[in-house]
Amino acid sequence: MTAVEILSEEHRTILEVIVHLERAANRVEHGDPIDLRAVMEVVDLCDLCVHQMHVVKEEQALFPLLESRGLGREVTVVSALLAQHQTGGVFLRELRTAAARLGEGDSSARRDFVIWARDYSGLVREHIRIEDHYFYSLASQALKPADDEALQARFARIEGSIRGSGERARCAALLERLRAMGAGG
Ligand SMILES: [Fe+2]
Ligand SMILES: [Fe+2]
Repeated sequence: MTAVEILSEEHRTILEVIVHLERAANRVEHGDPIDLRAVMEVVDLCDLCVHQMHVVKEEQALFPLLESRGLGREVTVVSALLAQHQTGGVFLRELRTAAARLGEGDSSARRDFVIWARDYSGLVREHIRIEDHYFYSLASQALKPADDEALQARFARIEGSIRGSGERARCAALLERLRAMGAGG
């Protein structure tokens, strides 16, 4: 598997996480009783799977290497994707704030949570669509054969620092718990 294929594979996990977030938003919208711990776990999972484990690989490994191959932020799609990474981080902070307010009995928190969850999900889905259907093939064409080894080595270093912090194990455990809960609806 090439480095770009590894990133594309991670998108499948991210989309699974997004389905869990959308389900949580539906339950909150329908006025179902809120399992606050489960809601916060979904938000944590977005943070871990999307930002700490995936975006960091793109921003610290893929994009810098692509820039040296002539595909830098002056290229419209690159600057658009970087802007979406930033916007995603802002949306996730708002989502986390709304989720925390759910537990305080704030009457507007349900509405805010649903809005931010849907904005965040929509953004991530659109971002992945652009990367999978357009940008990753552009990136693969721009990279030289030797670049793949360098990229995979950088991914391993990033993964190593994540493993050291225990985030990957935490992410796997959270996703497993959500899968088990999701099986029941
Ligand atoms: Fe991205
Ligand atoms: Fe990506």
